[in-house]
Amino acid sequence: MPNPDHNRDKLLATCILGGVAAVGLTIYLARCHRRGSPSGRPVRVYMDGCFDMMHYGHCNALRQARALGDQLVVGVVSDAEIIANKGPPVTPLNERMIMVRAVKWVDEVIPDAPYAITEEFMRKLFDEYKIDFIIHGDDPCVLPDGTDAYALAKKAGRYKQIKRTEGVSSTDIVGRMLLCVRERSVSDVQNHSTLQRQFSTGRSPKFDDVVSDSRTKISQFLPTSRRIVQFSNEKSPGPDARVVYIDGAFDLFHAGHVETLRIARGLGDFLLVGIHTDQSVSAKRGVHRPIMSLHERSLSVLACRYVDEVIIGAPWEVSRDMITTFNISLVVHGTTAENTDFQKEQNNPYAVPISMGIFKVLESPLDITTTTLIRRIVANHEAYQKRNEKKAASEKKYYEGKTRTSYNCPYRTSMYSETHSFIV
Ligand SMILES: *[C@@H]1O[C@H](CO)[C@@H](O)[C@H](O)[C@H]1NC(C)=O
Ligand SMILES: *[C@@H]1O[C@H](CO)[C@@H](O)[C@H](O)[C@H]1NC(C)=O
Repeated sequence: MPNPDHNRDKLLATCILGGVAAVGLTIYLARCHRRGSPSGRPVRVYMDGCFDMMHYGHCNALRQARALGDQLVVGVVSDAEIIANKGPPVTPLNERMIMVRAVKWVDEVIPDAPYAITEEFMRKLFDEYKIDFIIHGDDPCVLPDGTDAYALAKKAGRYKQIKRTEGVSSTDIVGRMLLCVRERSVSDVQNHSTLQRQFSTGRSPKFDDVVSDSRTKISQFLPTSRRIVQFSNEKSPGPDARVVYIDGAFDLFHAGHVETLRIARGLGDFLLVGIHTDQSVSAKRGVHRPIMSLHERSLSVLACRYVDEVIIGAPWEVSRDMITTFNISLVVHGTTAENTDFQKEQNNPYAVPISMGIFKVLESPLDITTTTLIRRIVANHEAYQKRNEKKAASEKKYYEGKTRTSYNCPYRTSMYSETHSFIV
């Protein structure tokens, strides 16, 4: 009779050996997977930008950059450098840092990056930050003196290019707000406070004229299922996961949203975010809202590292059915969310979770709302308009003789791009 203990030991030894072999194979495959680092260490790539009024186009660029290496280091240009090169940013460095850090493809962030990569900064990137490649979009990035901002990196043979995301730019977003202002300031000669009021209520008796005016150009974003998949985590909650639900418009996705999402995610294991439809946002906040469409807003939220899943077009009211379907343990609402009157409303959208004792109001750590951002732009609208026109003129000159598929530099320059698709 063979000793059963002996057999068991043999089996155990085989399992351990098998396990070691499997680990070895995994390590070997992981090495092969690393793209071209001779030392076997992870490939580190660098991308820089202003990331002012960060949108899903920036996020998509960061996603593509990350795919060219194993670790993505992002340089965020300082306020002073942006002011010197293109005028004041809408979002200051601290907000831009929160935004960039929150993007799920970003591994490290360098604050106060220079506007143009100098010889000295490039050395620092290579030696100190161990950067293998510097990444930028396939659009020319021209400095005020006419030189290429990435000339040095190209010369060093450490430059890689990605495709620019079509359909959006910060300037286009600023344009969406400025156009409304301009249309009305031409006819009514209104001051800023009345303009701000219109933005906050969204009510304009001339709205019909505004939309029919040929100058009201809104870039057309064509959402594809592929893009949504690229941005998704493709992960469902684990068996005992505590699902937290938060809903909102998430228009002009900003640092206030990010901080609220971070705290909400900390209250559970899986954060489900409900994005309200364009119709319900307009109904609650006025005809000029949302600035970004449902799909654009969904992509921005999906790119955030604290978010596990989104509902694209969530109902205004959190129903019992929804709570059961998604096994929601907690429903949260941020205090600086713009809809703070909900408790006074006849139909409190959170009546069901409140009655179930699973509703919580979150103290938002940052006092920023979508209205804050719009106000900053309206307050400075003349400066922004001048800056946009100046850039548009200089870029137009540059593009004369270039093909229509060339794009302006979305992460640095800011201008109206005639190469976008517009609907009138
Ligand atoms: C703006 O207009 C409102 C009324 O339309 C007026 O009360 C206010 O004083 C004006 N503000 C300035 C700065 O002109
Ligand atoms: C529902 O969520 C709870 C945690 O709140 C978890 O324990 C339970 O397993 C989940 N149920 C299902 C069916 O996933």
